[in-house]
Amino acid sequence: MLVAVPREAGAGEGRVALIPETVARLAANGFEVAVERGAGAAAGFPDEEYANAGAALREPGPVVGGADIVVRVGRPTPEEVSALAPGTVLIGFLAPLTDREGIERLERQGVVAFAMESIPRITRAQSMDALSSQATVAGYKAVLIAADRVPKLFPMLMTAAGTIAPARVLVMGAGVAGLQAIATARRLGAVVSAFDVRPAVKEQVESLGAKFLELGVTGEETEGGYARELTPEQQAQQQAALEERVPDFDVVVTTALVPGRPAPKLIPASAVANMRPGSCIVDLAAEAGGNCELTQPGNEVVREGVTIVGFTNLPSEMAFHASQLYSRNVFALLQHLAPGGELNLDFGDEITAGACVAGKPDIPAPSEEGTA
Ligand code: NAI
Repeated sequence: MLVAVPREAGAGEGRVALIPETVARLAANGFEVAVERGAGAAAGFPDEEYANAGAALREPGPVVGGADIVVRVGRPTPEEVSALAPGTVLIGFLAPLTDREGIERLERQGVVAFAMESIPRITRAQSMDALSSQATVAGYKAVLIAADRVPKLFPMLMTAAGTIAPARVLVMGAGVAGLQAIATARRLGAVVSAFDVRPAVKEQVESLGAKFLELGVTGEETEGGYARELTPEQQAQQQAALEERVPDFDVVVTTALVPGRPAPKLIPASAVANMRPGSCIVDLAAEAGGNCELTQPGNEVVREGVTIVGFTNLPSEMAFHASQLYSRNVFALLQHLAPGGELNLDFGDEITAGACVAGKPDIPAPSEEGTA
């Protein structure tokens, strides 16, 4: 069973799908691994380490030649898809809810594609949960970026020159990224408030030492634990409440997302105008359009004296650890799909069927399993 790791082609993508540590584990579990030269360089994993771990180093074109499974971080380009032999298994973040065209291309090519974001969030699949591992990195990095941009210290300091008040941080959306942002801001000494439409997270927010902001807007939760999109009336109510509260904060980290939908607009331009100059918003929902009306996805802008950071791939900025975590997620999925290095796709299994977004045979839906 040959697993191939191409170098990521996406602009600004520094991560790699498998790191040398995982290559060695795969080799011990019956897999052969081929890695494109330079694939791990941007994440801090030189070719030499892959070779020492037992990988064959290949040139760009041939890397996928003869591969049974191709593992990537981001979506393949159309050229990369056309290089895949029919029947090849492809694993990566494939954006199945938003990139229909890309998924249809994989179908036409006869590729059996597994999207990391489609792995069901059940207890049994936790070790494969790359959405969580990468969101953790993003939440951490978002706070570091904000701490770097604001002209303030985060902790309260008592000095001979008097006392400095701690920075005030608001985290919107207390899912995986938001909870990590809260924990990171707290460690830096900020006073943190947080908000989510899922009432279940109040306790988690408080257990991290943050205050839960009551805005009077409560949304519904899907069976998978995700938020449902608010009604237009609820959205207007939320924006109005936030318009009043947002100016109290030096830093706002927004992470609010609804899978497959544009990011909810939480911070209107008028709220930004009321913030103190020097404040900072880091919008982790930028890739889905942003939670702030003034966010420019991919860019950092200053509006009304407020810095608004809309970078769309923060995990890539911590490429070493983001790749390490992702690689372990991929390893767990590979062990599931090909135990002992032998491909055994059981589409009656909830994880295999749930994650497969192209090339799935027509079979009855798998039986239900409790979510965590
Ligand atoms: P996400 O990235 O889709 O969304 C982030 C957060 O934004 C969520 O907490 C969501 O409630 C919130 N949100 C949506 N609309 C909002 C609005 N208008 N205002 C404020 N907040 C809004 O979610 P994520 O972080 O990927 O996780 C969501 C759920 O999945 C959580 O319940 C989490 O506990 C669960 N989960 C379960 C896992 C498992 O293995 N059982 C693993 C990881 C997460």
